[in-house]
Order: sequence, then structure tokens, then C-alpha cells
Amino acid sequence: MRPLTVDSLNPAILNVQYAVRGELAIKAEEHRVNLQENGQASGLPFDRVISTNIGNPQQKGLDQPPITFVRQVAALMEWPDLRRLAPDVFPKDVIARATELYEEIGSVGAYSHSQGVPLIRKSVANFIAERDGYPSNPAHIFLTGGASYGVSLLISMLISTPYKTGILIPIPQYPLYTATLAQHSGAALPYHLDEASDWSTAIGEIEAALETAAKDGISPKGLVIINPGNPTGALLDEHTQEKVVRLCEKHSLVLLADEVYQTNLHRAETHPFTSFKKVVRKLDSPIPLVSFHSISKGVSGECGRRGGYFECVNISDEVIAMMYKMVSVGLCPPLAGQIGVDCMVRPPKVGDESYPLWKEETDTIHKALASRSGLMAERLNKLPGVSCVDSPGALYLYPKIELSDKAIAAAKEAGKEPDAFYALALLDATGICVVPGSGFGQKEGEYHYRLTCLCPGVDEYVGKLEKFHEEFSKKY
Ligand SMILES: Cc1ncc(COP(=O)(O)O)c(C=O)c1O
Repeated sequence: MRPLTVDSLNPAILNVQYAVRGELAIKAEEHRVNLQENGQASGLPFDRVISTNIGNPQQKGLDQPPITFVRQVAALMEWPDLRRLAPDVFPKDVIARATELYEEIGSVGAYSHSQGVPLIRKSVANFIAERDGYPSNPAHIFLTGGASYGVSLLISMLISTPYKTGILIPIPQYPLYTATLAQHSGAALPYHLDEASDWSTAIGEIEAALETAAKDGISPKGLVIINPGNPTGALLDEHTQEKVVRLCEKHSLVLLADEVYQTNLHRAETHPFTSFKKVVRKLDSPIPLVSFHSISKGVSGECGRRGGYFECVNISDEVIAMMYKMVSVGLCPPLAGQIGVDCMVRPPKVGDESYPLWKEETDTIHKALASRSGLMAERLNKLPGVSCVDSPGALYLYPKIELSDKAIAAAKEAGKEPDAFYALALLDATGICVVPGSGFGQKEGEYHYRLTCLCPGVDEYVGKLEKFHEEFSKKY
């Protein structure tokens, strides 16, 4: 019998790269285990690992508390008898919500409709209609096990000719896109965001990427916009969004709008979020649009529950039937995630028993994210050789670092990308885990890293970061 070897696997799998859980994260985990098992005898110059590498708010060590309303509804759905056994524990609106969901769904241990529970899809449609002022059709909404599943499905459906069908992706980008394109043998067509103007999206850059694709014989099928951005935290203004929609019309592109950070807005008065659905409807544009949302981000942070949805706009019933066929193969999205989506799009309203606590919890999270992100940007910008856009949205900062020739040579010697070399040194010296910019894509000769604004104790760890940067700069 021939053994199963890596070489005998689907070659597309070998091309998949996913930096957010790459070398840095693996090493951070090794340090964490070492500290846990050996304490002070670990030999490490720090007493804890600070995970600023992943937008996973409820992760141990970050400890963003879950929203009580969400967990109470989830608890009653997991064990419906609780409604009878502990009637005084739960607010009335929670019991009413769980009862309504239970009557529709029954046991969360059963498969649901493959597209997602119809009642929850109706809630999503109402949420979208209220947000945008344009109607939404529940039949055009798919509930998913996180936004990632939806993105992956769409990319798998759009790649019609291996390596010859392309999707335009922003650089820097969230590596889900390059990884999924690699998996499905699609071509990533990179367009650069403009750091000098707060990581804005320039139409000229997308046009340039389209020209390159044409020269390479690649036919572009879709355009990905991440708004608010990851890793940049940038927000598109409505005027730019209109230009993006017109560009999709001109080049017959499907617009994939990744809007999972739509409620992570640090300065909403000056930097509001506008959905692409609203812009497409306002312009009465015929472009096919798929927009993604998730319970993993926002203030919900329920990453492990795996819930999200996508809405299809200007997509024919025949194509939707194909999507339905494909999601049927996976039977259904996780019920816990679907219930999480219902809670996200239908939070308590003024007058509901749960409302005051829900409001307090969500306001506290929004405030903490905004203040941490502002503070970190301010301090990072004071460091020599570091510049950082003070991002108005999402959960990240993406500082640029200048690295000396000596540091670059040392990185080469160590067989690392220069920013990975910097990030590894940072991890080893301080326990702070970030993701090097090379994992998101960046211009030749530029170096960045991404850190989240999810860690409590900013003062302490930014202090460590500053000290490290000074020492690194002295050494190299
Ligand atoms: C831009 C972006 N899209 C999608 C996702 C995936 O989210 P989910 O947990 O819903 O799959 C993430 C996760 O970090 C993200 O940053």
C-alpha cells in the first residue's frame, strides 16, 4: 500500500497560507504552555502572553464578556425546560424570544432548513431594511456558519476556470481571501489601498489591477471590499462606494462586500458606516452584490458560535437555486450560530426588561474599543520610525515600521521576512503576539504589523512595546 503523503494531496491545498494562525501564533502558544507548566522556571522574560494577533474578543486573556441577552436566549434554547424550572431567573423578553424561536425551530439538535431558519432569515431581512431604508427579501438571505463559510462558498462558485478566473482583493487583506482563492484555484488580483490617505480605496488602483489581469489573460469575476477594513480599520465614504459600484457595472463584476465590522465604529459621528446594499439600491444599480455579516465581531464577539449571513442582491433565482443546492450539501448552518444571528439583528428594544443591561454592556464594549484604539495609535505614532493610521473602525491597528538595512540583513540571515523577524523578536522579548504585515500583503520594501484593540491593560503592554521598539532600533 502506498502511504498518504503531502505530495499526493490536492496541490491547491499546498498553496493555502493563513498568517493569522501562522508561525507567530504557534510560537505564542508554545510560550503560553511553557508559562503554564513551568511558571518562573520557563526562562521567559515575561509572565503572560498577550494575544493581540486575532480578532477573537472572548478568547482567554482578552475576556470580552458575552452579551447577557445572547447567552440567556442561547441557554433557554439549549435546555428549554429552564423556562419552567427557573422562570424568575430570565427577563420576560428573553423567555418570549426563546419561546418564539423554540416554537419555530424545536430542538437545536435537529438540522434546520439548509438556508437557515425561515423566521431568523425574516429577522435578518427586517434588520437590513431598517438599516438601509430599502426592502430585503428573506429568500435571498443565507444563514452561514460564520462569514468565512459564505465567502468560501461564493469564491468556490465564481471560479469557473482554474487559475484563469480572478477576484480583485484589497492589499492589505484579510488572508481568508487569498487562502480561499488558493484552495479553489482562483487568481487573486491585488489592488493596493492608499496608506497615505488613511488606507482609502482608490478606483485607479482597481483599474490598474484590471489592466494587469487582462495582460495576464485572467478574467476578473468579482471585487472584494472589506468595509470597515481588516487589517486597516479604514471606512469607505459613500462617494467612494458609489464609484466602486459604477466600476463593477463597467467591468461586470460581482461585488463581495465583507461588512462584518459594520458596528465597530470608533468615531461614528464623523465616520459612519453605509452598507453597499444601500448604495446599490440608491443608485438603482444592477450589479450583483453579496454582502456578508457575522456574529463574531461587533460587540457580540461570538466567534466560536459560528454564525453569520449573506444577502444576495440582483442575483437571479437560478443562481440562488445553485447556492441553495451547494449549502444543502452541508445540510445546515449550526443552530447555535443561527440563534446568535437572531439576537444580533433583533436585540432588546427600549422598554424591554433586558434593554438597560444590554445597552450598558454594549456601550461599555464600544467605549473600550474606541479608547484603546485611539490611545494605541497615539502612542505608536510617537515612536521613531513608526506611523499608524488611527483607524475609525474594525478591531485593528496596522502600524508601518521602518526597518534598518541591518535589521533586514539579520532577517534574511534568519530566513524570515523582515516584519516577521521584528514580530518574532517582539514576541520573544515581551510575550506580545502580533501578525506581521507580510501575512496581509504590502508594498515591496514596506513593513507593518497588525495588532488588535481587544486587549485590556493597554498602558502596560504598549509600554512593553515601546521599550522593545527602542531596544530593537538600538540593536539594529
Ligand atoms: C474581514 C473579515 N471577514 C470575515 C471574517 C470571518 O468571520 P467569521 O468568524 O464570521 O467567519 C473575519 C474574521 O476575522 C474578518 O476579519
